[in-house]
Amino acid sequence: MQKALFDRKSVRSYLDQEVEEEKKDLILNAALRSATAGNMSLYKIIDIQDQKIKDRLALSCDHQPFIATAPLLLLFVIDYQGWYRLFKEIDPHCKKPGMGDLMLGACDALVAAQSAAICAQSLGLGSCYIGDVLEEAELHRDMFKLPKYTMPITLLAIGYPTEHQKNRPQPPRFSKEAMVSTDTYREKSLEELKEDLHVKNPRLGAQGQINDLFHRKWTSEFLLEMERSVEQWLSWWKE
Ligand SMILES: Cc1cc2nc3c(=O)[nH]c(=O)nc-3n(C[C@H](O)[C@H](O)[C@H](O)COP(=O)(O)O)c2cc1C
Repeated sequence: MQKALFDRKSVRSYLDQEVEEEKKDLILNAALRSATAGNMSLYKIIDIQDQKIKDRLALSCDHQPFIATAPLLLLFVIDYQGWYRLFKEIDPHCKKPGMGDLMLGACDALVAAQSAAICAQSLGLGSCYIGDVLEEAELHRDMFKLPKYTMPITLLAIGYPTEHQKNRPQPPRFSKEAMVSTDTYREKSLEELKEDLHVKNPRLGAQGQINDLFHRKWTSEFLLEMERSVEQWLSWWKE
């Protein structure tokens, strides 16, 4: 287990090899065994098998072709609609699922997805999260027939890593000192933030990392689309 946790890295290139049914079952069962708020399992998993859907996702999730090649592709969907219908049987005027419920559902779904990712790693498979499934709300709602009080939160692409992926070094992380504080949050000075970044990746340096993320991500079209699409999901949830 420790090995799976510490060896994991994102894998975006897969061997042309199916994931065995027993391994897929273990991955799904590991997800379902995860902690879940109120033991309600406020999510569903869609096992995407249709190649046409994989191909469409490769386009709709910000043009990431490797998605279409993933032998196993799991969509994690926040789901409160079933519970709400059951609660309405007791009181048709009971409160509707709110933003807190949405956030708990997101926590549930992501905790489950991480169990799946670590289980996959322990079985010799690699995985990659696809956050861009938060984009294109209208298209994804139609594609997966998602009703009110549901929302896709992440995709997990899984497959056997190519040799190149196996040998790729793990990307660096912030240090424990940079990430963990005692008792209260500690807001850092700009100098401290840059020092943390420098320690994380001395090769790129602090400014190199800030510039890269600013230009590649923060000011990108895809992030704007993600903002729009998530607002749309929230407004469907609230209407
Ligand atoms: C919420 C979330 C969304 C992500 N979305 C994507 C994505 O759309 N495409 C991608 O290639 N990687 C995605 N990743 C993977 C990250 O890029 C990756 O975890 C990060 O670069 C660190 O690399 P590592 O996982 O190899 O340590 C995502 C990861 C998370 C946790």
